[in-house]
Amino acid sequence: MKQFRERVAVVTGGASGIGFATAERLAAEGMKLVLGDIEPGALDAAVKKLEAGGAQVLGVRTDVSLSADVERLAQRALERFGGVHVVFNNAGVAVTGEAWENSLADWEWVLGVNLWGVIHGIRTFVPILLRQNEPGHVVNTASMAGLTSNPGMAVYNVTKHAVVTLTETLHGDLALRGSPVKASVLCPGFINTRIMDSARNRQSDAAHDPPTPEASALGASIELALREGVKQGFAPSVVAQRVFEAIRDERFYIFAAQPEIFAAVEQRLDEVRAQKNPVTPTVLTE
Ligand code: NAI
Repeated sequence: MKQFRERVAVVTGGASGIGFATAERLAAEGMKLVLGDIEPGALDAAVKKLEAGGAQVLGVRTDVSLSADVERLAQRALERFGGVHVVFNNAGVAVTGEAWENSLADWEWVLGVNLWGVIHGIRTFVPILLRQNEPGHVVNTASMAGLTSNPGMAVYNVTKHAVVTLTETLHGDLALRGSPVKASVLCPGFINTRIMDSARNRQSDAAHDPPTPEASALGASIELALREGVKQGFAPSVVAQRVFEAIRDERFYIFAAQPEIFAAVEQRLDEVRAQKNPVTPTVLTE
């Protein structure tokens, strides 16, 4: 996509972190913004901040795990701005814990947001973009955790691997049609956002579904390492710039990751190629 001015971008998880920074970056290119987010106070604040910078912005409270909410988000975007050109399926949450310890509620919550959120985004928005028959771009947020398998993060890893393959397949489906609509997958490493405080938006009652004491011990150490990584991570504006450039230059893979995380991906690919047992990674990624 080469034309950004007066075009429309929908950003889920747009009230915070990577989503908000990308909305700001696209607004700086003259795009109109539609932010979908589950956290009403943060959403209002994000809309006001972008408006104060001169952008035209619509905020729609959205739970991306619900197809009806995502359909409403699209409808509101079309009513207000008459079209959609960039769709950033970015909302995401995280939990830690050993694979067999995570509760059903953990699995349902994280799969609901990270995977079903992207599925609903694709099913809702891609037909709209195709009907417009103009240049458009879908960016789905996965993670370097979609290219590695760090211990203590099964639920999150599953969703991010799924988003990588979903987006690679979407890319192929669009390419076979010769569509002017393109796709990219975003794989950040550690980024300094509120991802480790995801539970702030959890709707289920965690008190009725507590982790076991064993899970808490491992969870606590992994949680600590991840928190530290995120705290030391790149600024979200770094990711936002790469997302913008990837849309402009039609690049599929968007990376913003620390060198040691790239090395962990290399190691995994080498193990697959050599059919060697995986060496347990010591470098975590969110
Ligand atoms: P963040 O917590 O700052 O922002 C996430 C946003 O998603 C928040 O505004 C939150 O309210 C919203 N959200 C949560 N549940 C939602 C739901 N059900 N429906 C709609 N919105 C919802 O975190 P961050 O880091 O900006 O997260 C954005 C994406 O980046 C996520 O998909 C995350 O998994 C991914 N990511 C983050 C990394 C990091 O180190 N921060 C690394 C790799 C990937």
